[in-house]
Amino acid sequence: MTSRIFNVEDARRIAKRRLPKIFFDYIDGGSSGEETLRANREDFGRWRLEQRVLAGFQPADLSTRYLGQRHALPFMLGPVGFLGLFAGKGEILAARAAHRAGTGFCLSNFSIASLADLKADGAAGQPQFQLYVLKDRGLAEEFVQAAETAGVETLHLTVDTAITGIRERDARNGFRAVTRIGPRLGFGLALRPAWCLDLARAGRPGVGAVRGRAEFGNGILEQASTLSRLIDPALSWADVEWLRERWKGRLSIKGILHADDAARAKAAGADAIVVSNHGGRQLDTAPSTISVLPEIVDAADGMEVLIDGGFRRGTDIVKALGLGASGVLLGRAYAFGAAAGGEAGVSAVIETLAAEIGVTLGLMGLSSIDELKSRGRSALRTAPG
Ligand SMILES: Cc1cc2nc3c(=O)[nH]c(=O)nc-3n(C[C@H](O)[C@H](O)[C@H](O)COP(=O)(O)O)c2cc1C
Repeated sequence: MTSRIFNVEDARRIAKRRLPKIFFDYIDGGSSGEETLRANREDFGRWRLEQRVLAGFQPADLSTRYLGQRHALPFMLGPVGFLGLFAGKGEILAARAAHRAGTGFCLSNFSIASLADLKADGAAGQPQFQLYVLKDRGLAEEFVQAAETAGVETLHLTVDTAITGIRERDARNGFRAVTRIGPRLGFGLALRPAWCLDLARAGRPGVGAVRGRAEFGNGILEQASTLSRLIDPALSWADVEWLRERWKGRLSIKGILHADDAARAKAAGADAIVVSNHGGRQLDTAPSTISVLPEIVDAADGMEVLIDGGFRRGTDIVKALGLGASGVLLGRAYAFGAAAGGEAGVSAVIETLAAEIGVTLGLMGLSSIDELKSRGRSALRTAPG
């Protein structure tokens, strides 16, 4: 399976064949007319990379520093909810693949595996954690405490989901209305026997962060919908300050798309931000992340800026780093890898992107990511037209 993954699109195609439609659409889709989803991809075309020659090729050093650490790769695996439903033990195998490649993995608040599960695995490395702040601050505090106990160093507070965007594919598939496996869903699942077997082997899924808490209900469907209902839509900058006081580790604010909000994040004490529109799943027709990156880097005034959204090619990653991002988070790219081929599928996605970056740097006359970062915007030019 993985021998057929030569690029991220291959992983997507295989994932489409393996996953029940309801899950493939959940991963692949965006909100409303999916304009932002498409713009995240298309706007990489606004830039071209500068080809420089006779620079004395040597295999490029892809390691670089972000989130307080030197990583072997300039991209890491960002938070993707329900990964353990796309492949059995999805979070654990993705974390292992990232760890083996020398890069980071961020566990979503909506994961099947808990932080303790990753720790117990032994091969999953030290994950980052993504947090949704709940109306009940006591519960939010418990999540923060769990992260502290698990030795998490970077916490990403996601701030672009006060309410959920309208996801038409999910509505058509009845994704959010599912409370039990009825005939329609059952039929859809039965069409994907390999996936069913894989999930059956992994055991009964639930939301790891609330495991064993009766008030969240029983099983993944009830737990996920209770947790979604509890996300605080009234979250404000005062809450970021509250979290800043409470959390002593590195704090990243994920979901910044405006220069003024970047400046506010810095003022509220964030160590980093992730420029993100949630992969085009929230405000439709919001700008693509790559198009706002330069102005946000300028407004961040030295605070670390990471980015996600639409990264499917090594050249996409090189463009973002040239425009001032310290690192890139993958979302769907590796979720498709997990669905396509489990741990090997995630590794295949990581390896193809790393290979693409290596070749890109070589043909740009650069020998390392750090050299690309110091060349900065002069490594790119705007595309004509
Ligand atoms: C299936 C799926 C689930 C996601 N779940 C979460 C989540 O639980 N928390 C979060 O902060 N972001 C979540 N995201 C958003 C990703 O972290 C990221 O912002 C986005 O996927 C980046 O765009 P890309 O998928 O085009 O790379 C999710 C994205 C997808 C596709």
